[in-house]
Amino acid sequence: MQNLIETLHVALDERSYPIHIGSGLLDRPELILPHIKQKRVVVVTNETVAPLYLARLSSTLSTGGVEVLPVVLPDGEQFKTWETLNRIFDALLGARCERSTILIALGGGVIGDMGGFAAACYQRGMPFIQVPTTLLSQVDSSVGGKTAINHPLGKNMIGAFYQPKLVLADIATLDTLPDRELKAGLAEVIKYGLIRDPEFFVWLEINLDKLLARDQASLIHAVHRSCTNKAEVVAADERESGERALLNLGHTFGHAIETGMGYGEWLHGEAVAAGTLIAAELSCRLGWIDVDMVARIERLFVRAGLPVMAPRLGAARYLELMSHDKKVQDGKLRLVLLRGLGQAVVSDVATDEQIVAAIEVRCTKMGSF
Ligand code: NAD
Ligand code: GLY
Repeated sequence: MQNLIETLHVALDERSYPIHIGSGLLDRPELILPHIKQKRVVVVTNETVAPLYLARLSSTLSTGGVEVLPVVLPDGEQFKTWETLNRIFDALLGARCERSTILIALGGGVIGDMGGFAAACYQRGMPFIQVPTTLLSQVDSSVGGKTAINHPLGKNMIGAFYQPKLVLADIATLDTLPDRELKAGLAEVIKYGLIRDPEFFVWLEINLDKLLARDQASLIHAVHRSCTNKAEVVAADERESGERALLNLGHTFGHAIETGMGYGEWLHGEAVAAGTLIAAELSCRLGWIDVDMVARIERLFVRAGLPVMAPRLGAARYLELMSHDKKVQDGKLRLVLLRGLGQAVVSDVATDEQIVAAIEVRCTKMGSF
């Protein structure tokens, strides 16, 4: 398994880049050194990931004479803020980093989103590399160039589209990932099956237990298939003027849960799971999918150990939080809904009453797993 490596490409003309997926990639200088011309790089990571993987990455880089300036941030969604972002800028300026200095984001989606946003802003853009270490970041956030921080009024509201030069997804890093985080990552994996890849959904129904048991070959397949889907969507619609919005199935409700509960209370993947069930419920109420399909989706999320009921924030609060969604156009909420397995659409046909009814039937006092 050590030598198995899959490589995909995100095709974006002069901003194209490879995604390497495999086990033990952190120890392979030939994958990362060709992308680094300078003798010094900045590695943005956090207090949890640094003790696990910073020394290994530094050692790999040192074989090419590349020195690492580490920037170690506090861990957590609640730190995806201006204040934390500024710590990255303080470090970059303090060390006289140049516009051509490379920033490497080593960690999960929070580090990738913040590191990427810092790279997009510093001296109007420095190159950056994604080294994702959670399942969620390997299948989703490290690919496609969405970078952001949160605002108290809404998730990922301040950010930029800014593509990395390389994504290095070392599946072996998932060995140390807590179970709850692994399961949260599965929400985004299941998403690809639901929105555009029904065969993959069926594969997940068959192989979910292997993923939960962290079988390496199954994890590599799931990351590869997820990234294939994501790369195709991003290549077709980099800045989300159309198809890319489908990647947000469950996210409008999910972001409302994350913001409404307080950042970090519900993991992103957990909120997306409960949000996806609300979207499925609404799709069913619109007559687009039947109750058996909703039950089938629910079964897979339950098996993955993910919540299928949302917290009871109150329908008015949901609507208020959702009104900040980035898909709102002319004040009208647009939602990603399902017209069948693998057939997601963006739609504004649901009335507030229908949305509220779907939320209410999918809410319990605190949400549940
Ligand atoms: P995360 O970055 O908070 O990581 C989860 C936890 O796992 C953290 O405590 C982290 O320190 C720890 N961790 C990371 N790697 C580890 C490892 N190998 N071993 C042990 N612990 C490890 O959360 P996440 O789920 O990776 O990412 C969620 C974030 O990604 C959210 O902020 C979400 O908005 C964002 N996101 C962005 C996109 C995008 O397209 N940019 C897509 C999906 C999600
Ligand atoms: N995770 C949604 C997107 O990348 O567009």
